[in-house]
Amino acid sequence: MMKEGVIIKITGPVVSAEKMKGSKMYELVRVGNEQLVGEIIRLEGDVATIQVYEETGGVVPGEPVLRTGMPLSIELGPGLLGKIYDGIQRPLELIKIQTGDYIERGGDVPAIERDVKWEFVPTVKKGERVNPGDVVGTVPETKTITHRVLVPPGTAGKLIEIVPKGKYTIVDTIAKIETDGGIKDVQMLQKWPVRIARPYVKKLDPVLPLTTGQRIIDTLFPIAKGGTAAIPGPFGSGKTVMQQSLAKWADADIIVYIGCGERGNEMTDVLREFPELEDPTTGEPLMKRTILIANTSNMPVAARDASVYTGMTIAEYYRDMGYDVALMADSTSRWAEAMREISGRLEEMPGEEGYPAYLASRLADFYERSGRVIVNGKEKAIGSISVIGAVSPPGGDFSEPVTQNTLRIVKVFWALDADLANKRHFPAINWLQSYSLYSDQVKDWWHEEVGTEWEKMRNEAMNLLQKESELEEIVQLVGPDALPESDQIILEGAKIIREDFLMQNAFHKVDAYCPSKKQYEMMRIMLKFNELSLKKVKEGIPAEMIKAMPIRDRLARMSTIPDAEYQKHFEEIEKDMESQFKRIGE
Ligand SMILES: Nc1ncnc2c1ncn2[C@@H]1O[C@H](COP(=O)(O)OP(=O)(O)O)[C@@H](O)[C@H]1O
Ligand SMILES: [Mg+2]
Repeated sequence: MMKEGVIIKITGPVVSAEKMKGSKMYELVRVGNEQLVGEIIRLEGDVATIQVYEETGGVVPGEPVLRTGMPLSIELGPGLLGKIYDGIQRPLELIKIQTGDYIERGGDVPAIERDVKWEFVPTVKKGERVNPGDVVGTVPETKTITHRVLVPPGTAGKLIEIVPKGKYTIVDTIAKIETDGGIKDVQMLQKWPVRIARPYVKKLDPVLPLTTGQRIIDTLFPIAKGGTAAIPGPFGSGKTVMQQSLAKWADADIIVYIGCGERGNEMTDVLREFPELEDPTTGEPLMKRTILIANTSNMPVAARDASVYTGMTIAEYYRDMGYDVALMADSTSRWAEAMREISGRLEEMPGEEGYPAYLASRLADFYERSGRVIVNGKEKAIGSISVIGAVSPPGGDFSEPVTQNTLRIVKVFWALDADLANKRHFPAINWLQSYSLYSDQVKDWWHEEVGTEWEKMRNEAMNLLQKESELEEIVQLVGPDALPESDQIILEGAKIIREDFLMQNAFHKVDAYCPSKKQYEMMRIMLKFNELSLKKVKEGIPAEMIKAMPIRDRLARMSTIPDAEYQKHFEEIEKDMESQFKRIGE
């Protein structure tokens, strides 16, 4: 029997109810006559304070609150891929995001279809002993993703029944396990409380890069599989474009994209584009590896909080199957603002700039759910969750609490810069401010898989850019012509790196994604130009003459040479460059 409380007060998304003694923190409740979805966030005596994930307009004191006895949980199983959900995992349709008319309040649509039959192939035999995380069978969820049906966390014992290969729905019982606590039916459908991190065996060092096809990221400020990164930047600096580029091109098996508190049309852009784009590694439509959580600016504010946990739990579920998952949240600032609003309604003691004192720990707990781990199960598979959070500091001021607290947690900082964006240097990642703490850890991968000079080249490029910024101060004072010839060459070398390597057009068919090897070769040839230039200048060739070399144009066009042909072209460009340098000054 569900117990009932009574509403005594409604303030926006926060509702208080009495006669709630015995309920638990974070218990899921249904609020009012329309049974809106809410979660208990404070308990005092028999009064519960509830954050409601749906519009509370029209709800009045005296209406009932139903207790469910369960924490806010989501559904996990085959059928998640390609779906679009709101913050509490109700399926959304593209058209409804566009019109802003989402879902009926109090609606109870199942997150995953109950009537679809999946081809289940058992991988264990009757009589075997199974433990949490063991694979009992597989389902081809998409062409490239095999869904592994796992023994749920907390369940262990003898397998006393397993269905034969065949077609089953997610609610059919596919196995029975005799546990110490009795016989447990296993279905493909599982539930998990979103606020609790799913267990794993052990965290591993993040030694593999999550390649993204974005040159400034992969080459200068790499993120690792299982790593964390933040993209702070003012309005219009390119956070969303970058998040979407990562969602498109990162070499993860699964993408979870959380649109949190941002405009709805940005989500619809994703939805229009993704089904048409191909995954560069599998050739499949990108949407098939993607799950979108849409909690746009005009949806109820409390649901932003739920949306990040919902997204993370889905990410963990696929990680537990041994997949590499990348999760993007755009923007974590809107989530923090939701925390601030709810905290204000609760009349909690405000911390910095009105954010609750627990802002830092909430952010830390969220990012802590990332990582490359050995998952449960006898296969000892490895899975990972990489987390990339956009941060939108008001006015682009990075000293504000959300940016500062995030930077204390994440290991990669891609600082977006309004000046660069205004100059239309995209991605507007400031190369002097940004950093990655993974470059040391991923260098072996680069050296083994791509080229042995990666670290050396990376340092050289960073040095050039650093020297450029020092020289620029002098140029401001005395003008460029007063610089020694060799310094003019350094400026030229840095300019090539900036304009022809770091700049990358997210909307260009070829340039949007740059394979690792192509990045490496571009960098190598550009640095070689710089090296040959310095040599010539030492031999007395004027910098002016070097800057006017026709090869400069060819370097500038390297990024747009299609992936299939670039190797051949680059060889030619390199030869041409060498012969131009040989002839110069003759
Ligand atoms: N990599 C890029 N290539 C080309 N244009 C870009 C790129 N990044 C950003 N832009 C331009 O900047 C605009 C604003 O970017 P957006 O991601 O919406 O900013 P934010 O989310 O930070 O407010 C985009 O509409 C686009 O015109
Ligand atoms: Mg944006």
